[in-house]
Amino acid sequence: MALLFLSTPNRAPVWRAILSEAGETMFEGEEAVTDPALVTEIACWVPPKDLGRYPNLRAVISVGAGVDHLPPMPPGVALSRTLAPGIEAMVRDWVVMATLLLHRDLPLYIDQARQGLWRPHPVQPATARRVGILGMGRIGRLAAHSLQALDFDVAGLSRSGGGRDAEPGSVPVFAEGDVEAFLARSDLLVCLLPLTSETRGVLGAGTFAALPAGAGLIHAGRGGHLDMPALREALDTGRLSGAVLDVTDPEPLPADHWLWRDPRVIITPHVAAQTDATEGARHALAVIRALRLGTTVPGLVDQQKGY
Ligand code: GLV
Repeated sequence: MALLFLSTPNRAPVWRAILSEAGETMFEGEEAVTDPALVTEIACWVPPKDLGRYPNLRAVISVGAGVDHLPPMPPGVALSRTLAPGIEAMVRDWVVMATLLLHRDLPLYIDQARQGLWRPHPVQPATARRVGILGMGRIGRLAAHSLQALDFDVAGLSRSGGGRDAEPGSVPVFAEGDVEAFLARSDLLVCLLPLTSETRGVLGAGTFAALPAGAGLIHAGRGGHLDMPALREALDTGRLSGAVLDVTDPEPLPADHWLWRDPRVIITPHVAAQTDATEGARHALAVIRALRLGTTVPGLVDQQKGY
């Protein structure tokens, strides 16, 4: 029984130390595998070309929070995503940063600065800014509570129902059927959804039309959520006044893409979070142990739902 490690090489020494201290075997890279029958878990971002090569595979562990980039699992193989406090806090930080950037008109001031223009605009208090979080999973809730602590008027939208998110504070959560009302009160829309066949293209003309005029978009989901022509149209017509994007379609965004040149848009290259090696290895170890004990695999993905 062994774990096949296919993540970035700089993380390998940390993984090796943590797994070997726990008495687990780890192969680093497919070429290191002496016998494919020994591989019971694979930890990867980029998966191996052929999962079928490993007859005793029990689980594939995404070293990130997302799993949309992974192929369908062979029958009986569990899929786990790395949920860890560090990843969640990093995405929360990025969302708070992006929200403050749009709230305080940073794209406008950066553009003015490039032109040497000293021109103040009215400042709004955070209490006057309604933030809507699309996707109230662990990261969405964390971001919602942090933004609420900064006095933003925060609400969420969740597939699993409405009501109020109890602690800490109480963020109103709209149910899927109330999406129009949720969007109509989102001056700043934050997308943290997983990418599934149902959410692909969700950031498109219909969604943008339902937002208050001049709303801002904050996106740390996936490029596949974005309808890029609709984004361009929404920016050009002023329906959207600005956007901060950590993900784009395509990725990497080509150097000559129109999006780079739009002064209302700030782009970061899919860096909202990067999995800490220690957290990732500990998560993998917890998966191995749960499989052995027959308990619930941490970060287990519902492969029907896709998250
Ligand atoms: C990054 O996008 C991740 O899924 O961890």
